[in-house]
Amino acid sequence: MTAPLLELRDVCKSFGGIRVNDGVSFVVREGDRIALIGPNGAGKTTLVNVISGGLDVSQGSILLGGHDITDFSIPQRVDAGLIRTFQITRLFTNLTVAENVALAVMQKKGITRKFFSSWIDRPNIRDQWMQILGLLGIAHLAAARVSQLAYGQQRLLDLALGLALEPKVLILDEPAAGVPSDESGRIIEAIDRLPPKIAVMMIEHDMDLVFKFAKRVLVLANGRLIFEGDPSAVTHDSEVRRAYLGTYADGRHTS
Ligand SMILES: Nc1ncnc2c1ncn2[C@@H]1O[C@H](COP(=O)(O)OP(=O)(O)O)[C@@H](O)[C@H]1O
Ligand SMILES: [Mg+2]
Repeated sequence: MTAPLLELRDVCKSFGGIRVNDGVSFVVREGDRIALIGPNGAGKTTLVNVISGGLDVSQGSILLGGHDITDFSIPQRVDAGLIRTFQITRLFTNLTVAENVALAVMQKKGITRKFFSSWIDRPNIRDQWMQILGLLGIAHLAAARVSQLAYGQQRLLDLALGLALEPKVLILDEPAAGVPSDESGRIIEAIDRLPPKIAVMMIEHDMDLVFKFAKRVLVLANGRLIFEGDPSAVTHDSEVRRAYLGTYADGRHTS
């Protein structure tokens, strides 16, 4: 059997003696759609930072395609196909949507930015950014400057940049957080249309979105994984109900 795409083995992260991630182990396979849920302060964002390389582990290891990447930097992980998105600060606000995506496409291809203007319309670059914008439903925004975009559109562009880096594993930390409700549907639709081969892991509080998206749910509480299984089972798990779901699970049971 082939190695899982991503594997965490007994990952621990402590801050000043306090364990924020405590012995977390799980695997991610091609095409996975995983929701990581849990109460505020459970350690979800910390875990995502540890996976994406923003924080060092205190203990344990992380493997990508069977290779130990525990000591890899963020750029090394990105090169290897482990991409975390929705970090909007990466956007170049004076450039257009198409230019931003073209830059990410070029980064992946190892083309320097020096002759940027001559590259953006080359067929092999242009085909890629057009295809990505089309997939995410924002082709009509290609010529718009980032500074003119609504917040939800910026988040879609951020997703486009993630795709341009050709992820094997794509991690989304609360993709719809702070997005007005009239725009959040577009983000959910875009996530729905992501290429099926990519493994997608999403941190999300909105349980309706979790149930729409996830084929598998991981529940973190006090830094530990307390549940791993399919979405229909999560609402029935007594420990999860106690730690997190409470009234939401009660509501679903009666329906
Ligand atoms: N850099 C840090 N230094 C010290 N404590 C931190 C740091 N980052 C997070 N924490 C603590 O770790 C715990 C988990 O935080 P976090 O990972 O943000 O949880 P979640 O995303 O599940 O809400 C919290 O108690 C938080 O205060
Ligand atoms: Mg968080």
